[in-house]
Amino acid sequence: MDNPIGIRKYDYVEFYVGSARMTAWWFAKALGLQFTGYCGPETGVRDRMSYYLTKNDLKFVVTSGLQPSSYDVWSFVTKHGDGVKRWSVEVDDVTEAFTYATRHGAVMVRRPEKIENHHGYVEEAAIRIYDDSELVFVNRDHYKHIFRPFFCEPLQKYQIEAHDTGLMWVDHIVGNVRENEMNLWAEYFNQTMGFETFVDFKAGDIGTKYSALLSKVVRSKNSVIRNPINEPFQGLKKSQIEEYIEQYHGSGIQHIAIATEDIVATISALRRNGMEFLAVPDTYYDRMRSRPDLKVTENVDDLHRLGILYDTEADGYLLQLFTKPICDRPTFFFEIIQRRGNSQGFGKGNFQALFESIELDQKLRGNLDRDPSVVMPPC
Ligand code: FE2
Repeated sequence: MDNPIGIRKYDYVEFYVGSARMTAWWFAKALGLQFTGYCGPETGVRDRMSYYLTKNDLKFVVTSGLQPSSYDVWSFVTKHGDGVKRWSVEVDDVTEAFTYATRHGAVMVRRPEKIENHHGYVEEAAIRIYDDSELVFVNRDHYKHIFRPFFCEPLQKYQIEAHDTGLMWVDHIVGNVRENEMNLWAEYFNQTMGFETFVDFKAGDIGTKYSALLSKVVRSKNSVIRNPINEPFQGLKKSQIEEYIEQYHGSGIQHIAIATEDIVATISALRRNGMEFLAVPDTYYDRMRSRPDLKVTENVDDLHRLGILYDTEADGYLLQLFTKPICDRPTFFFEIIQRRGNSQGFGKGNFQALFESIELDQKLRGNLDRDPSVVMPPC
């Protein structure tokens, strides 16, 4: 069967954070998301507070704990820092998806559950992915209000001025796992949800002489869910994936790629909103201008000015750029991506430039050399 669990598309992503209100404010200001829903004590939920933020087909929830007993939130944030607790896929039938997944080896987190009120009901179930993350099956065909029961219109009318970022939907979600775990997790996705391995990046494909990684991309056979999985590979110095595993204290979500249909306008707006991106050297654009396979229709001077990366594919091209880590720990970040033609890739041609930029930041954090004592503090 091509789609045994009836996947339709990505649905929401939920972050567990120290302060939901402050993170939501930052998402609205930096990413240009709209406050769409709220859940907390005023809506009958005593132990946590969540804000639901949206833009086009992008749906983020940020949640923090309000009581010492909000154990799932606090244990996650204490161990991992702010980060993605769960991402979800909309499915035709939650019970059927969950039953298929668990019969094929998925670890159960939450049995199918109907959450209802006078607006209708939302169905959800969840399975475990990585150390402490979840994949949620959701269906809200029978719910006619905001997000799900217990969510209402935001109580505060925040006046946040942000430039329109034009962010559209989730393109892919990437996980980082420990050495020798990548194949296990790729197989987990393939077996439990009928995914297939789409790309397999070997050691020589991704890395500099200092740090390297291996990566496999699994995807749903209808191609709507793309899920790269990275693991560290031995290099002369510490891999960025090793740094993630150390700082996150385990395996988890590394980045979410958000699609746009006009990356020049999007990056321009995000920069004006204060978003910080990885630096791209000028020499990258000298090389880009001389590429015989350059088929970009965007103005290359605009790409250079905004630091946007380009990669060509057989049947199209992609433009992309990566933010710096958005939280305190160097763990989670966003990618902004625009695909043209039948682009299906992940920017393999940019790995070298990307890694060199990440290594510069790793060095500043004292996390590139295996012995941190060799790093001199800059101040
Ligand atoms: Fe990516």
